[in-house]
Amino acid sequence: MPQTLSLLYDRVRVEEKEIINAAQKKGVELRPIDAKELHLNITDLKKDEIFGDVAIERCVSHFRGLYITAILESKGIHVINPFSVAALCGDKLLCSMKLAKAGIPTPKTIVAFTKDEAMKVLEEEMGYPAVIKPVFGSWGRLIAPLKDRETAQALLEDREEMGNPLYQIYYIQEMVERPPRDIRTVVVGDKIAASIYRYSAPDDWRTNIARGGKAEVCNLTEDLKELVLKAAEVVGTGVLGVDAMETKEGIVIHEVNSTVEFKGAMSVSEVDIPGMIIDYALERARK
Ligand SMILES: Nc1ncnc2c1ncn2[C@@H]1O[C@H](COP(=O)(O)OP(=O)(O)O)[C@@H](O)[C@H]1O
Ligand SMILES: [Mg+2]
Repeated sequence: MPQTLSLLYDRVRVEEKEIINAAQKKGVELRPIDAKELHLNITDLKKDEIFGDVAIERCVSHFRGLYITAILESKGIHVINPFSVAALCGDKLLCSMKLAKAGIPTPKTIVAFTKDEAMKVLEEEMGYPAVIKPVFGSWGRLIAPLKDRETAQALLEDREEMGNPLYQIYYIQEMVERPPRDIRTVVVGDKIAASIYRYSAPDDWRTNIARGGKAEVCNLTEDLKELVLKAAEVVGTGVLGVDAMETKEGIVIHEVNSTVEFKGAMSVSEVDIPGMIIDYALERARK
Protein backbone atom coordinates (compact mmCIF):
# COMPACT_ATOMS: atom_id res chain seq x y z
CA MET A 1 0.00 0.00 0.00
CA PRO A 2 1.39 3.42 -0.88
CA GLN A 3 1.91 5.77 2.01
CA THR A 4 -0.63 8.52 2.49
CA LEU A 5 -0.18 11.88 4.15
CA SER A 6 -2.31 14.64 5.57
CA LEU A 7 -1.62 18.33 6.00
CA LEU A 8 -3.21 20.09 8.94
CA TYR A 9 -3.60 23.80 8.44
CA ASP A 10 -5.62 26.70 9.75
CA ARG A 11 -4.52 29.16 7.09
CA VAL A 12 -3.19 28.32 3.65
CA ARG A 13 0.04 30.27 3.29
CA VAL A 14 2.49 30.00 0.41
CA GLU A 15 4.21 27.16 2.29
CA GLU A 16 1.07 25.02 2.59
CA LYS A 17 0.22 25.56 -1.09
CA GLU A 18 3.71 24.50 -2.05
CA ILE A 19 3.60 21.38 0.11
CA ILE A 20 0.29 20.38 -1.50
CA ASN A 21 1.77 21.01 -4.99
CA ALA A 22 4.90 19.03 -4.17
CA ALA A 23 2.83 16.02 -3.13
CA GLN A 24 0.79 16.26 -6.32
CA LYS A 25 3.94 16.41 -8.45
CA LYS A 26 5.30 13.31 -6.73
CA GLY A 27 2.00 11.45 -7.09
CA VAL A 28 1.65 11.20 -3.32
CA GLU A 29 -1.80 11.24 -1.75
CA LEU A 30 -1.92 14.15 0.67
CA ARG A 31 -5.16 15.16 2.29
CA PRO A 32 -5.39 18.81 3.37
CA ILE A 33 -7.40 19.12 6.58
CA ASP A 34 -8.65 22.44 7.92
CA ALA A 35 -8.06 22.33 11.66
CA LYS A 36 -10.78 24.92 12.18
CA GLU A 37 -13.35 22.37 11.01
CA LEU A 38 -11.98 19.53 13.06
CA HIS A 39 -13.10 17.95 16.32
CA LEU A 40 -11.44 14.93 17.83
CA ASN A 41 -12.56 12.36 20.34
CA ILE A 42 -9.72 12.13 22.81
CA THR A 43 -11.10 9.23 24.84
CA ASP A 44 -11.50 6.96 21.85
CA LEU A 45 -7.99 5.97 20.82
CA LYS A 46 -9.02 4.40 17.53
CA LYS A 47 -6.75 5.43 14.66
CA ASP A 48 -8.55 7.76 12.32
CA GLU A 49 -7.77 6.87 8.71
CA ILE A 50 -8.31 10.37 7.33
CA PHE A 51 -4.94 11.47 8.70
CA GLY A 52 -3.01 8.86 6.68
CA ASP A 53 0.32 7.43 7.82
CA VAL A 54 1.88 10.76 8.64
CA ALA A 55 0.26 14.11 9.41
CA ILE A 56 2.19 17.25 8.58
CA GLU A 57 1.03 19.79 11.15
CA ARG A 58 1.30 23.37 9.84
CA CYS A 59 -1.16 25.40 11.92
CA VAL A 60 -0.39 29.09 12.37
CA SER A 61 -1.85 28.84 15.86
CA HIS A 62 0.85 27.14 17.89
CA PHE A 63 -1.45 25.80 20.59
CA ARG A 64 -4.03 24.53 18.12
CA GLY A 65 -1.31 22.62 16.28
CA LEU A 66 0.28 21.42 19.48
CA TYR A 67 -2.90 19.90 20.91
CA ILE A 68 -3.84 18.32 17.60
CA THR A 69 -0.39 16.76 17.54
CA ALA A 70 -0.83 15.35 21.04
CA ILE A 71 -4.16 13.81 20.08
CA LEU A 72 -2.98 12.31 16.80
CA GLU A 73 0.08 10.83 18.46
CA SER A 74 -2.14 9.25 21.11
CA LYS A 75 -4.02 7.55 18.28
CA GLY A 76 -0.77 6.18 16.87
CA ILE A 77 -0.34 8.62 13.99
CA HIS A 78 3.12 10.02 13.23
CA VAL A 79 3.13 13.78 13.21
CA ILE A 80 5.71 16.13 11.75
CA ASN A 81 6.85 17.65 13.96
CA PRO A 82 6.37 15.36 16.97
CA PHE A 83 4.72 16.83 20.07
CA SER A 84 7.99 16.89 22.01
CA VAL A 85 9.66 19.00 19.30
CA ALA A 86 6.73 21.37 18.79
CA ALA A 87 6.30 21.90 22.54
CA LEU A 88 9.97 22.66 23.06
CA CYS A 89 10.38 24.95 20.07
CA GLY A 90 7.12 26.74 20.85
CA ASP A 91 8.53 27.90 24.17
CA LYS A 92 11.48 30.26 23.95
CA LEU A 93 12.49 29.62 27.55
CA LEU A 94 12.63 25.84 27.15
CA CYS A 95 14.34 26.14 23.79
CA SER A 96 17.07 28.49 25.09
CA MET A 97 17.71 26.11 27.99
CA LYS A 98 18.00 23.14 25.68
CA LEU A 99 20.45 24.93 23.38
CA ALA A 100 22.58 26.12 26.30
CA LYS A 101 22.63 22.70 27.89
CA ALA A 102 23.88 21.16 24.64
CA GLY A 103 26.74 23.67 24.53
CA ILE A 104 25.30 25.56 21.56
CA PRO A 105 26.17 29.26 21.74
CA THR A 106 22.97 31.17 22.44
CA PRO A 107 22.35 34.73 23.70
CA LYS A 108 22.60 35.26 27.45
CA THR A 109 19.09 35.06 28.86
CA ILE A 110 17.76 35.64 32.37
CA VAL A 111 14.22 34.88 33.46
CA ALA A 112 12.31 36.57 36.29
CA PHE A 113 8.78 36.08 37.55
CA THR A 114 7.76 39.53 38.74
CA LYS A 115 8.12 43.00 37.28
CA ASP A 116 10.29 44.18 40.17
CA GLU A 117 12.68 41.27 39.86
CA ALA A 118 12.82 41.78 36.08
CA MET A 119 13.82 45.43 36.71
CA LYS A 120 16.55 44.18 39.03
CA VAL A 121 17.83 41.87 36.29
CA LEU A 122 18.04 44.82 33.89
CA GLU A 123 19.60 47.26 36.35
CA GLU A 124 22.06 44.93 38.02
CA GLU A 125 22.91 42.13 35.61
CA MET A 126 21.91 42.66 32.01
CA GLY A 127 22.20 46.42 31.55
CA TYR A 128 20.77 48.31 28.59
CA PRO A 129 19.95 47.79 25.82
CA ALA A 130 18.31 44.41 26.38
CA VAL A 131 15.49 42.52 24.73
CA ILE A 132 12.29 41.24 26.31
CA LYS A 133 10.32 38.46 24.65
CA PRO A 134 7.15 36.60 25.44
CA VAL A 135 8.05 32.92 25.86
CA PHE A 136 5.58 32.00 23.12
CA GLY A 137 4.76 33.61 19.78
CA SER A 138 6.39 34.29 16.47
CA TRP A 139 6.84 36.90 13.73
CA GLY A 140 8.66 39.06 16.27
CA ARG A 141 5.39 39.81 18.03
CA LEU A 142 5.72 41.68 21.36
CA ILE A 143 9.49 41.35 21.26
CA ALA A 144 10.80 44.70 22.41
CA PRO A 145 14.15 46.37 22.77
CA LEU A 146 14.63 47.88 26.23
CA LYS A 147 16.87 50.88 25.69
CA ASP A 148 16.79 52.46 29.14
CA ARG A 149 15.20 52.25 32.56
CA GLU A 150 12.15 54.37 31.63
CA THR A 151 11.27 52.22 28.62
CA ALA A 152 11.82 49.08 30.64
CA GLN A 153 9.58 50.26 33.47
CA ALA A 154 6.79 51.23 31.08
CA LEU A 155 7.01 47.99 29.15
CA LEU A 156 7.17 45.78 32.21
CA GLU A 157 4.13 47.57 33.64
CA ASP A 158 2.29 46.76 30.42
CA ARG A 159 3.30 43.13 30.69
CA GLU A 160 2.10 43.03 34.28
CA GLU A 161 -1.38 44.08 33.16
CA MET A 162 -1.67 41.59 30.31
CA GLY A 163 -4.21 38.84 30.84
CA ASN A 164 -2.26 35.80 29.81
CA PRO A 165 -0.08 34.67 32.75
CA LEU A 166 2.68 33.66 30.34
CA TYR A 167 3.36 37.38 29.82
CA GLN A 168 4.48 37.50 33.44
CA ILE A 169 7.30 35.10 32.71
CA TYR A 170 9.87 37.80 32.03
CA TYR A 171 12.35 36.44 29.48
CA ILE A 172 15.14 39.00 29.25
CA GLN A 173 17.94 38.61 26.77
CA GLU A 174 21.12 40.48 26.00
CA MET A 175 20.79 42.67 22.91
CA VAL A 176 23.12 40.95 20.49
CA GLU A 177 25.33 43.32 18.52
CA ARG A 178 24.80 42.06 15.03
CA PRO A 179 24.56 43.36 11.47
CA PRO A 180 21.00 44.23 10.38
CA ARG A 181 20.37 40.64 9.44
CA ASP A 182 20.17 37.15 10.86
CA ILE A 183 20.52 33.70 9.31
CA ARG A 184 17.53 31.38 8.86
CA THR A 185 18.31 27.79 7.96
CA VAL A 186 15.59 25.37 6.98
CA VAL A 187 16.47 21.90 8.19
CA VAL A 188 14.58 18.79 7.09
CA GLY A 189 15.47 15.77 9.20
CA ASP A 190 19.25 15.56 9.20
CA LYS A 191 19.66 17.67 6.05
CA ILE A 192 20.06 21.37 5.49
CA ALA A 193 17.57 22.45 2.83
CA ALA A 194 18.44 26.13 2.47
CA SER A 195 19.95 29.02 4.30
CA ILE A 196 19.18 32.70 3.94
CA TYR A 197 20.20 36.01 5.39
CA ARG A 198 17.14 37.90 6.53
CA TYR A 199 17.67 41.65 6.40
CA SER A 200 15.38 43.76 8.53
CA ALA A 201 13.03 46.18 6.80
CA PRO A 202 14.20 49.83 6.97
CA ASP A 203 11.62 50.69 9.64
CA ASP A 204 12.18 47.71 11.97
CA TRP A 205 15.04 46.21 13.95
CA ARG A 206 13.68 42.65 13.76
CA THR A 207 14.61 40.56 10.76
CA ASN A 208 11.44 38.45 10.43
CA ILE A 209 10.25 38.09 6.83
CA ALA A 210 6.72 38.53 8.24
CA ARG A 211 7.82 42.08 9.22
CA GLY A 212 9.01 42.92 5.74
CA GLY A 213 12.51 41.43 6.06
CA LYS A 214 14.30 40.63 2.81
CA ALA A 215 15.90 37.30 1.93
CA GLU A 216 19.30 36.72 0.38
CA VAL A 217 21.18 33.45 -0.16
CA CYS A 218 23.62 32.56 2.58
CA ASN A 219 26.36 29.99 2.02
CA LEU A 220 27.01 28.39 5.36
CA THR A 221 30.53 27.42 6.35
CA GLU A 222 31.06 23.77 7.24
CA ASP A 223 31.35 24.74 10.93
CA LEU A 224 28.07 26.60 10.84
CA LYS A 225 26.33 23.74 9.03
CA GLU A 226 27.46 21.44 11.78
CA LEU A 227 26.23 23.81 14.49
CA VAL A 228 22.84 24.26 12.83
CA LEU A 229 22.35 20.51 12.41
CA LYS A 230 23.34 19.99 16.02
CA ALA A 231 20.74 22.55 17.13
CA ALA A 232 18.09 20.74 15.10
CA GLU A 233 19.09 17.42 16.58
CA VAL A 234 19.14 18.75 20.12
CA VAL A 235 15.50 19.87 19.95
CA GLY A 236 14.51 16.47 18.60
CA THR A 237 14.75 16.65 14.76
CA GLY A 238 11.99 17.46 12.29
CA VAL A 239 11.18 20.14 9.77
CA LEU A 240 12.72 23.13 11.49
CA GLY A 241 13.91 26.69 11.10
CA VAL A 242 17.15 27.32 12.93
CA ASP A 243 17.80 31.04 13.45
CA ALA A 244 21.26 32.41 14.11
CA MET A 245 22.86 35.82 14.60
CA GLU A 246 26.39 36.92 13.79
CA THR A 247 28.35 38.53 16.61
CA LYS A 248 31.96 39.63 16.92
CA GLU A 249 32.62 36.56 19.04
CA GLY A 250 30.99 34.19 16.57
CA ILE A 251 27.57 32.79 15.83
CA VAL A 252 24.77 32.46 18.35
CA ILE A 253 21.62 30.47 17.74
CA HIS A 254 18.67 32.33 19.24
CA GLU A 255 15.81 30.00 18.40
CA VAL A 256 14.60 26.93 16.59
CA ASN A 257 11.15 27.19 14.99
CA SER A 258 8.85 24.22 14.68
CA THR A 259 6.35 25.33 12.02
CA VAL A 260 8.97 26.88 9.82
CA GLU A 261 8.04 29.47 7.21
CA PHE A 262 10.25 29.02 4.17
CA LYS A 263 8.70 31.44 1.68
CA GLY A 264 11.78 33.69 1.94
CA ALA A 265 14.17 30.76 1.52
CA MET A 266 12.20 29.45 -1.47
CA SER A 267 12.31 32.84 -3.18
CA VAL A 268 16.10 32.80 -3.37
CA SER A 269 17.07 29.13 -3.29
CA GLU A 270 16.95 26.56 -6.07
CA VAL A 271 16.31 23.77 -3.59
CA ASP A 272 12.90 22.08 -3.67
CA ILE A 273 12.12 22.57 0.03
CA PRO A 274 8.47 21.37 -0.13
CA GLY A 275 9.62 18.32 -2.10
CA MET A 276 12.13 17.56 0.64
CA ILE A 277 9.38 17.83 3.25
CA ILE A 278 7.21 15.32 1.34
CA ASP A 279 10.15 12.91 0.98
CA TYR A 280 10.89 13.24 4.69
CA ALA A 281 7.24 12.56 5.57
CA LEU A 282 7.25 9.44 3.38
CA GLU A 283 10.44 8.30 5.03
CA ARG A 284 8.80 8.75 8.46
CA ALA A 285 5.75 6.82 7.22
CA ARG A 286 7.94 3.83 6.43
CA LYS A 287 9.33 3.72 9.99
N1 LIG B 1 18.81 39.13 21.57
C1 LIG B 1 18.62 39.72 20.41
N2 LIG B 1 19.50 40.67 19.94
C2 LIG B 1 19.27 41.29 18.76
N3 LIG B 1 18.24 41.01 17.95
C3 LIG B 1 17.35 40.09 18.34
C4 LIG B 1 17.50 39.40 19.58
N4 LIG B 1 16.49 38.54 19.72
C5 LIG B 1 15.72 38.68 18.63
N5 LIG B 1 16.23 39.61 17.79
C6 LIG B 1 15.62 40.00 16.49
O1 LIG B 1 14.22 39.86 16.60
C7 LIG B 1 13.76 38.83 15.70
C8 LIG B 1 12.65 38.02 16.35
O2 LIG B 1 13.13 37.37 17.51
P1 LIG B 1 12.94 35.83 17.77
O3 LIG B 1 13.54 35.51 19.07
O4 LIG B 1 13.43 35.08 16.59
O5 LIG B 1 11.35 35.68 17.90
P2 LIG B 1 10.20 35.22 16.90
O6 LIG B 1 9.87 33.84 17.33
O7 LIG B 1 9.07 36.13 17.14
O8 LIG B 1 10.75 35.25 15.51
C9 LIG B 1 15.01 38.01 15.39
O9 LIG B 1 14.89 37.36 14.15
C10 LIG B 1 16.08 39.07 15.39
O10 LIG B 1 16.09 39.80 14.19
MG1 LIG C 1 12.45 34.06 15.01
